[in-house]
Amino acid sequence: MREHGFVTKDSVVIVTGAGGGIGSATALKLASLGMTVVTVDKNESQLSATTKRIADAGFKSVAIAADVTSEDDCKKVCNAASTLGLPLKGLVNNAAVGAFNMSVEQTSLDEWNRIIAINLTSLFLMSKYALPHIREAGGGAIINVSSVHAYATSTGVAPYAAAKGGVLALTRTMALDLAKDKIRVICLAPGAVNTPMLQQHADREGKTLAELGFPAGSSDIARIADPAELADTISFALSKEATFITGSAIVADGGLLAKF
Ligand SMILES: NC(=O)c1ccc[n+]([C@@H]2O[C@H](COP(=O)([O-])OP(=O)(O)OC[C@H]3O[C@@H](n4cnc5c(N)ncnc54)[C@H](O)[C@@H]3O)[C@@H](O)[C@H]2O)c1
Repeated sequence: MREHGFVTKDSVVIVTGAGGGIGSATALKLASLGMTVVTVDKNESQLSATTKRIADAGFKSVAIAADVTSEDDCKKVCNAASTLGLPLKGLVNNAAVGAFNMSVEQTSLDEWNRIIAINLTSLFLMSKYALPHIREAGGGAIINVSSVHAYATSTGVAPYAAAKGGVLALTRTMALDLAKDKIRVICLAPGAVNTPMLQQHADREGKTLAELGFPAGSSDIARIADPAELADTISFALSKEATFITGSAIVADGGLLAKF
């Protein structure tokens, strides 16, 4: 029985961090499928660039500048998304910041709290205020974007890895709580993706992406993905094709975790 929630073209879906690499590609993909996409980002110029990208492709979106660490902003976004004349059925919790050179001892409490707020607490806040509307719409799906850092990690990423592990655990418990409401909750754990976040990491290290261990060849294991590849995965996870997936992660990493 395909009773569990999914998102169709006649519904509204919110994408946070829609001004960034994966968020912009996801918003474009979902808009191209006929969904009404509410794009959210705190960076207004990047958000406008996504709006233009979607419009240039012949589709529409509704942009809301908001900070997903603000409870008031999250309420505002969810309420606005629920008054567009179509049911709010989907939420893609994608916004996050990279955080490097941050071992436990290198990280101040303020920095720790800031990164956990953006990369973990914001998913709690957005979900909290979207859920009543998704339930009222008869169900739907939430995608929580985590990272391979939830499974295997590197030095100097204490708050980032802790937050991304938390996103996976949050996904499991949300899926259990929400199954009765026909709401699926899925975690996406990407490997390396060609976005501003990854490029900023390379720039900070003064290395190329290849030197950081991410090959660019199209058949290389652990290659760098195009953001559109993650958008396709998110679109699948939201859809009726994925009704048996909830409470678990889709690892989309080009084989990164398969490798020593
Ligand atoms: N790029 C990668 O290699 C990679 C790998 C694994 C996981 N991820 C995850 O994928 C997701 C998207 O990452 P990306 O690479 O597209 O990053 P990105 O930096 O290109 O985009 C992130 C977007 O989030 C926005 N944002 C940050 N803080 C915000 C806030 N408080 N309120 C609203 N918006 C805010 C930024 O302005 C930016 O537009 C993130 O969750 C990231 O952790 C990325």
